[in-house]
Amino acid sequence: MHSSVVELIEQRFSASLFDASHSLSDLAITELTRLATRAPTAYNLQNWRFIAVRSPEAKARLRNFAFGQVKVSDAAVTFIVCGVLPDHAALAERLSPSVEAGYMPAALATGWQESVRVKYAHPQTARDEAVRSATLGAATLMFAAEASGLVSGPMIGFDAEAVAREFGLAPDEIPVMLVAIGRAAPGNWPQKPRRPLTEVLQIS
Ligand SMILES: Cc1cc2nc3c(=O)[nH]c(=O)nc-3n(C[C@H](O)[C@H](O)[C@H](O)COP(=O)(O)O)c2cc1C
Repeated sequence: MHSSVVELIEQRFSASLFDASHSLSDLAITELTRLATRAPTAYNLQNWRFIAVRSPEAKARLRNFAFGQVKVSDAAVTFIVCGVLPDHAALAERLSPSVEAGYMPAALATGWQESVRVKYAHPQTARDEAVRSATLGAATLMFAAEASGLVSGPMIGFDAEAVAREFGLAPDEIPVMLVAIGRAAPGNWPQKPRRPLTEVLQIS
């Protein structure tokens, strides 16, 4: 494991070339996902699901819906990172460990449930939150991969409707991003140069 988060941020690149002979165990996939779920979500909704596509058959199927992108099947695993539309009814269970641990007052948990019910009544707001949560989960998953000496390739180049249908997503689940993870093959580009901070940073 690398000790420095800064190093991981600076060394990460979006991988396209993966060692197709490399595989990952259930344990390794579970550990990557455990770390990904340490990402924050609004109200601690944890409104996500991670589908780890690992078998050669499933990867080939997914690749077909991802415009043939070879990394989908060459990587040891390609995750379909799904965001879930926020459901206030599910929140009590998600918050109860914090209440039971004694630092979250029960009344606050009930208040958050009501906030979620009101806040996400509009479909666009609900969808935004699903995308936001899945994106933070995907980013954390990528850094968990880096920390394990692996590389990652995020993708939006896929047919979301087909992926949802073929991989059995529920009606409230949105396939937000594919993230290929595995061992790098030679020939990947390094992390690309970024825009100057003067263009993207405003300090007010
Ligand atoms: C949300 C998202 C979707 C992306 N989709 C694809 C994709 O479908 N195919 C692909 O080859 N690269 C994809 N990329 C990779 C980007 O092109 C890459 O992150 C960007 O060029 C910066 O490269 P770097 O991370 O190596 O610096 C995607 C990246 C992100 C963040």
